[in-house]
Amino acid sequence: MKLARFKDQVAVISGAANGIGKACALRFAQEGASVALLDVDADNSKTAAEECRAEGVEALAIITDVKDKAQVESAVKQVLETWGQLNVLVCSAGVYSGSPLESVDEEDWHNTVQTNLSGVFLCNQAVAEVMKAQGSGSIINISSMAGKTSFPATMEYSASKSGIIGLTRSVAMEMANYGVTANTICPGNTKTNMLQQVAEVVAPQEDMTPEAWLEMRSSDAPLGRFAEPWEIAGVAAFLASEDARYITGQAIEVDGGMVLS
Ligand SMILES: NC(=O)c1ccc[n+]([C@@H]2O[C@H](COP(=O)([O-])OP(=O)(O)OC[C@H]3O[C@@H](n4cnc5c(N)ncnc54)[C@H](O)[C@@H]3O)[C@@H](O)[C@H]2O)c1
Repeated sequence: MKLARFKDQVAVISGAANGIGKACALRFAQEGASVALLDVDADNSKTAAEECRAEGVEALAIITDVKDKAQVESAVKQVLETWGQLNVLVCSAGVYSGSPLESVDEEDWHNTVQTNLSGVFLCNQAVAEVMKAQGSGSIINISSMAGKTSFPATMEYSASKSGIIGLTRSVAMEMANYGVTANTICPGNTKTNMLQQVAEVVAPQEDMTPEAWLEMRSSDAPLGRFAEPWEIAGVAAFLASEDARYITGQAIEVDGGMVLS
């Protein structure tokens, strides 16, 4: 049986051109939502929007840099002008950068924190008023297992991802009286372009090739494999569904047990 939990709803997904964000956009489209795809990657946003439309829903690719408040506000304005409502926000846009403490490049630090943390903040801020006025809404911010546990040489990434958890808790507290929930998902290693980028950065630090590093890491999680992007999207859809109406302020690990091990 095909679920239609988000029929007549509107989902806005940042980072929707690729990876986990794209899987979320497709999942909400498959379940009946109109979808706005916010990303800086114009070509892949267009393709992802076409794939959403093939599910029989409306989809808009809106080129948006989540670091830029004016662009984020303009995207939300376009969504409201198009559909008149905004029920779900998934913030998946993110970048990876990791270096040992002494060699963290200041520019990398600022870019990572601005994209991963300030980008989530700006998107949450931009939807707050409309969700409060509606008296409903679901905000789902994508953090990482790196926000919950510790790895060496991931200063800026870990800091940004821990920050998302704190931000989301605060948003949850502030929005609770308005019927709006806010939760964080903390994925483990998931098969996307970003995982490949991580391998390319970390493998040389461990005197390995990216391929060998990925092979070695693939069985790190107690469940013995990497996640597929749709496995993260399924949890995002659950958190936005009626079944999760009483869940707010949580940071949910979807990591095959990694943080436990
Ligand atoms: N893949 C993993 O193993 C993993 C694990 C834990 C958490 N995450 C998190 O999941 C989220 C999605 O990552 P992914 O693995 O799908 O990576 P990805 O690289 O496949 O997708 C990230 C998307 O974000 C977009 N993006 C980057 N900067 C942007 C900006 N300034 N404005 C708008 N869009 C921007 C990119 O264009 C891309 O489409 C990220 O927040 C990431 O930190 C990923």
